[in-house]
Amino acid sequence: MKIYEAHSMGEMSRKAANIISAQVILYPHSVLGLATGSSPIGTYEQLADWYKKGDLDFSEVTTVNLDEYRGLDGSSEQSYRYFMNQHLFSKVNIKLERTHIPNGMAEDVEAECRRYDELIASLGGIDLQLLGLGHNGHIGFNEPSGAFEKTTHCVDLGESTIQANSRFFERMEDVPRQAITMGIKSIMQAKKILLIVGGEDKKEILHRSLFGPVTPNVPASILQLHPNLTVVSCNAL
Ligand code: GLP
Repeated sequence: MKIYEAHSMGEMSRKAANIISAQVILYPHSVLGLATGSSPIGTYEQLADWYKKGDLDFSEVTTVNLDEYRGLDGSSEQSYRYFMNQHLFSKVNIKLERTHIPNGMAEDVEAECRRYDELIASLGGIDLQLLGLGHNGHIGFNEPSGAFEKTTHCVDLGESTIQANSRFFERMEDVPRQAITMGIKSIMQAKKILLIVGGEDKKEILHRSLFGPVTPNVPASILQLHPNLTVVSCNAL
């Protein structure tokens, strides 16, 4: 595990963007696993900036996002599809048809989960997976539970996650109670993982994730077993 401690959130975002840029420059056909939440926003801004300056080319890149809320379609401002379009995809020359996010509106959710796993397999897996960290140790929307869920699945969001997500919604009752998330196996099979975590409020959970016992009660703790994990943190270690 490599750990970089940044002195500011800006430096954290730049460092993470540097690592993603290196991947895209060295391997233009990379499959990037992408994340939402507030943590990666600065990183996406930095990537868009470097693209504008002519330093990056996303034309051959494919992306697969970690998760999507159940019941929201891409035109809903709180959906992760909307988030990705707004923060990254509309700002760089990525081909939209090469950007993949679970379909939160799928009627047959089991079939959608299987489709997503097959898609990831057909792409040859993920080259670099970007992750944030939930306050309860979740990665994607893999919530604490009795066992690690291997494949893409539909999850009932925990109370603390619903609370945390409510900051993006006008009314508490609008916050989705379910999501479709990539499983732990797909995440762990990524060739490289980049975890970005900023803020005092994540200190305890980051510590438990990186240095505590590996347990499905802290889903991110499994990352300790990944052979190529880079952590970029600011004020969280
Ligand atoms: C959501 C996302 C996660 C993300 C987490 C933390 O739950 N599904 O992928 O890591 O939020 O978000 P933030 O970075 O805003 O703290």
